[in-house]
Amino acid sequence: MKFIRQALIGLTLLVLTIAAKADEGMWLPFLLEQLNEKQMKALGMKISAKDIYNINKGSLKDAIVSFGGFCTGEVISSQGLVLTNHHCGFDAIQNHSTLDHNYIQDGFWARNRSEELPNEKLFVTFIIRIDDVTKEVMNGVSPDMKETDRQSQIDKNIAALRKSSKKESYQDNFVRSFYEGNQYYLFVTETYKDVRLVGAPPSSIGNFGKDTDNWMWPRHTGDFSMFRIYAGKDGKPAEYSPENIPYVPKKSLSISLDGTVANDFTMVFGFPGRTTEYLHSSAVEQIMNVNDPAKIAIREKALHIINGYMRQDEQLRIMYAAKYAGIENSYKKWQGEVLGLNNSNALDKKRKQEAEFQKRVDARAEWKEKYGTLLGDLDALYKEFKPYGLARDYYTEVVSKIEMFTIAAQLNLLVTSYDRDGEKGYQGRLAAVQNNLKDFFAEFSPTVDKKVFEELMDLYVKEQHPEKPNGDIHQLTEQLYKWELLDKTAAEALLKKDPATVVGILRSSLVVQLYNDLQKNYATKTQAKLTELQNKINQKQRTYMQAQMEVFKEKTFYPDANSTLRVTYGKVNGYAPRDAVSFDYYTYLDGVLEKYKPGDYEFDVPAKLRELNKSKDFGPYGKNGKMPVCFLASNHTTGGNSGSPALDAYGNLVGLNFDRVWEGTMSDINYDPAICRNIMVDIRYILFIVDKYAGASNLIAEMKLVHPKAKTR
Ligand code: ARG
Ligand code: GLU
Repeated sequence: MKFIRQALIGLTLLVLTIAAKADEGMWLPFLLEQLNEKQMKALGMKISAKDIYNINKGSLKDAIVSFGGFCTGEVISSQGLVLTNHHCGFDAIQNHSTLDHNYIQDGFWARNRSEELPNEKLFVTFIIRIDDVTKEVMNGVSPDMKETDRQSQIDKNIAALRKSSKKESYQDNFVRSFYEGNQYYLFVTETYKDVRLVGAPPSSIGNFGKDTDNWMWPRHTGDFSMFRIYAGKDGKPAEYSPENIPYVPKKSLSISLDGTVANDFTMVFGFPGRTTEYLHSSAVEQIMNVNDPAKIAIREKALHIINGYMRQDEQLRIMYAAKYAGIENSYKKWQGEVLGLNNSNALDKKRKQEAEFQKRVDARAEWKEKYGTLLGDLDALYKEFKPYGLARDYYTEVVSKIEMFTIAAQLNLLVTSYDRDGEKGYQGRLAAVQNNLKDFFAEFSPTVDKKVFEELMDLYVKEQHPEKPNGDIHQLTEQLYKWELLDKTAAEALLKKDPATVVGILRSSLVVQLYNDLQKNYATKTQAKLTELQNKINQKQRTYMQAQMEVFKEKTFYPDANSTLRVTYGKVNGYAPRDAVSFDYYTYLDGVLEKYKPGDYEFDVPAKLRELNKSKDFGPYGKNGKMPVCFLASNHTTGGNSGSPALDAYGNLVGLNFDRVWEGTMSDINYDPAICRNIMVDIRYILFIVDKYAGASNLIAEMKLVHPKAKTR
């Protein structure tokens, strides 16, 4: 009896933990059948794991691309049409914009194929196949090996594997480590380099709400843009050529016009960048109490200064818009992260897990011997790591915000190349440096930078080098910012001189000297120790991961994100972040108009959109007289999932992922199903904008629109 009761309790506990985990996890598509299919079906999925990943015939994964290596995109027509976010396509949109054709401001729509715009550095990558190659990679690796020997054995095995593994001549492959170095998977890929811009809404739609609304719910952004993949005449990858033809995909997504309601199953398919879900509590504590707050404080200063100038000067506003958005994006995310880690009691949770881990380990001799001191070791290592981790963050944050150092770094490359390989080395570098500086100067103001330098350096010296006298920062700033090479024309003129002269001038430059001093100081005092400790931590963390998987056998572990293709699934739902505050899961066009501020930099609304809302001219895309805009679900996503498709129970496209809610950004470290939500644009809003706003019905005609809910009505 007692036994049965215990077994029952055990079973309920098991079911509870599995149920609670329903939304957490970024899963490998080739392991879904084995690990997730059952649960996905229980949550409402109507297709099978094989429909998602199948190497023998077209499956959903064949419609998903890594977009430029930093975002996700998906194929939505049989003619290679690709959907991604506006902020993912922004670079392309910006590069094609001039004062006469301001596609950022006005949007862009190719009316036919010949108007589609090529993008030199853009590419998309398909995943053809994924194989578990752990055994092959671990060949000849033994537990008592030195770390460096271990790594070189692994590198050797990977190189051999990459050579011998089967693939077509136009394909490529790479091997990545998973579960902190416990497993290795090989990816066969196909990369297309002719990707052309097809369409983008004006940023008053595509980036509506800008920084104020970023990471926030309720959201009203139509964050999308469209591209087309072109292939050679044989349908295979090819360099750009006007002769190329639209790529015919193995699979393109069908698009549902039926929308979603609460508790509908959804999955997001894409390339999440980086998460750290299996850290020791000491590491989490450092992130929330030391590193995030330091980085936030530095960025706050920089943003405050830049914003001040942007508000005074229209020219500076345009110049610094993208940079400001970039600095602000992480600044705001880290704040949400700290808040969320606190609110979700992440530390308590971790510590409880660790106590349970230790209890189980101590109870079994074999584990105790292997893993008995692991937690203590990690804790000690993190304590030692702390000041170095902080120094790293200070250095990288401060130096990267001071743009004078960007010029110094570029010019210094010429000096180091000259020192290494003489004139030949110098000449080999010159074109790249000239190019980089040209791009750099297009978005640089010495006035703004001078202020940033003075304030950030003051902070840096106070916090990181209290031994140094701090009184003369102002004077130092005045002196440094007299540097003539802060001026584009002067820098260009300098590079016309002969190498020896240029190198001589640079060597005696105060700015270049300061930059080199800072760098050297960091390399010797911080970097060296940091690398040493990080290697030790990585090794322990690898063992800890392996141990957790062994000790918590009842749990299904997913590997941390590492920019490889993953599936995450959850349900459409709102959330309640604070006492008495609860958020609905849908927003509508009416809400765009509620936020409307005529002429405002963030909240202006194009006249045509206002008219369409007034006349309720929503075509087949509206619902009950309203136009859906964005919605929420509990899919576990992170940076890199931008542009990922949100799919319904049948695998139809229902939304386009582009953000997370602020209170839930700690999901990179501690996912909490109660408040972690991903934000998607409703696909019907995208179609409405393409069709009704832009009149690009030629694009709609390419797509396959479906009504999956009609069946069940
Ligand atoms: N927060 C989203 C992501 O991390 C969107 C960023 C782009 N939008 C913006 N307003 N900055 O990347
Ligand atoms: N906007 C993010 C991206 O660019 C996705 C949001 C997130 O971090 O979840 O990938």
